[in-house]
Amino acid sequence: MKVLVVGSGGREHALCWKIAQSKKVDKLYCAPGNAGIAEYAECVAIGAMEIDKLAQFAADNQIDLTVIGMDDPLVAGVVDAFEAKGLRVFGPRKNAAILEGSKAFSKDLMKKYNIPTAAYETFDDADEALKYLETADFPIVLKTDGLALGKGVLICNDLEEAKAGVKTIMLDKQFGNAGNRMVIEEFMTGREVSVLSFVDGDTIKIMTSAQDHKRAGDGDTGLNTGGMGTFSPSPFYTEEVDEFCKKYIYQATVDAMKAEGRTFKGIIFFGLMLTPKGPRVLEYNARFGDPEAQVVIPRMKNDIVDVFEACIDGTLSDIELEFEDNAAVCVVLASKGYPVKYDKGLPISGLDTVKAHEAEGYYVFHAGTKLVDGQIVTNGGRVLGVTAKGATLKEARANAYKATEWIEFANKYKRNDIGKAIDEA
Ligand code: AMP
Ligand code: GLY
Repeated sequence: MKVLVVGSGGREHALCWKIAQSKKVDKLYCAPGNAGIAEYAECVAIGAMEIDKLAQFAADNQIDLTVIGMDDPLVAGVVDAFEAKGLRVFGPRKNAAILEGSKAFSKDLMKKYNIPTAAYETFDDADEALKYLETADFPIVLKTDGLALGKGVLICNDLEEAKAGVKTIMLDKQFGNAGNRMVIEEFMTGREVSVLSFVDGDTIKIMTSAQDHKRAGDGDTGLNTGGMGTFSPSPFYTEEVDEFCKKYIYQATVDAMKAEGRTFKGIIFFGLMLTPKGPRVLEYNARFGDPEAQVVIPRMKNDIVDVFEACIDGTLSDIELEFEDNAAVCVVLASKGYPVKYDKGLPISGLDTVKAHEAEGYYVFHAGTKLVDGQIVTNGGRVLGVTAKGATLKEARANAYKATEWIEFANKYKRNDIGKAIDEA
C-alpha cells in the first residue's frame, strides 16, 4: 500500500513512525512533514490546508490511504474533497468534524442527548453576552465558537475580566472569525484526562488514557500552549470513571452524531474533567491529540493501518485494540520564549543518541525542525517531543527526563514537572 499522512508536527511524526511499521505499507508520504518524519516518509511540499493540491497528489500517485493528522483541514472538508475523487481517507467528513470545529454545535449536541458537560449559553452578540455576565457566578469560562489553535478559552475570575474577555473575543476579534460566536460556560474543577478513540460510524473503541500539560510554565503557570508534555495512562482514569464514561459519554456521542445525520468516522478525542460530581466533557477533538499521540501510539500493539481501514469500512467491531501494559511520558523541548516569540534555525545535536536507544523504548518525535545543509535545526516553538517508556509512570518519567539531557540546542526550554501528578495518585 501507498499511504499519505497530512500534517507536520510531533503527532504526525508518531503516526508516520507507527504506519511505517505496518506490514501492509510499502511507501509512505507526508505532506508537508518535517526533518524527523523524513526518516520514514517522503516529504511532499504541499501545505495541510492546500486541500485540492493534496487530493490531486493522492490521485496522481495512486495513494491507497490518506490519514489526516490535523484539525484545520478536517474542519475545512479535506475528507469530502478526497472522497469526491474516489480516494480512501481516514478522518471525519466536514459535517462530522464540526464536533471539534464549533463549540456551540458540540455543546448543543451534548445538551440535546444528555451527555454530561458544563452548563452554558451561546451568544452571537457582545451586548447580550455582557448582560448575561452581570448576574453570572465567577469564575466563568469564555470560549470562541471556532478553532483558535487551542487558545480560544479564557478563564475569568470576576466580572471585569469577563467583560474584557468578551471584548477580546467578539469586538477586538483577537481570534478572528472564530470569535463571531461565543460560548459562556460554568467553571468546573477537577483533574483533566484525555481519552482518544477510534470510531467507524457505529462502533467506538477506546484507546489508553493520557494527560496533557497545556500551560507553558512549571506548576501550570504562564500562557496556554499546544501542549508541553503528556503521560499515559492516567492513574486517575479508574475503572469507575471508565464505566461512567462508557455508559453516558462515548457511545452516546457516536449515536448522537449518527442521529443528527453526521455519522462520525475517525478519531474522537474526549477532553474530560473528573469533577466532584463525576466525569464531564470539556471538549471534543476530531483527531489525535498532540502530544497525546506521542505517548499513546508508542504503547499501541495493533497494526494501526488495520484499525484505520476498519474505521473506514465499518468493521471496527472485529478489532480488539491492544496496548502495552506499561507507561510512557513525553517531555516537549521548546524554544525559549514559546508561545510568544522565539528564535528559529538553531542547530540540534544528540538526536542520534535517542535513536540508538529506541529498542529500549526511547523516541524523539520532531515538532518543529528543518534540515538545512545536512544539519537539523529548530523551526518552531515546540521543537521536539522526547518520549520514554517504563514499567511504571515514575520510571517512564525518569527515563524521559534523562533522555531530554541527551539533546542540545541553544535556547532549549522544557517544563520540569511533566507527570508531577503521578506522585499524588
Ligand atoms: P478546551 O479547549 O475546551 O479543552 O479548553 C482548554 C482548557 O481550558 C481545558 O483543558 C481546561 O483546562 C480549561 N477549561 C475549559 N473549559 C473549562 C471549564 N468549563 N471549567 C474549567 N476549566 C475549563
Ligand atoms: N493536546 C491537546 C490537543 O491536541 O488538542
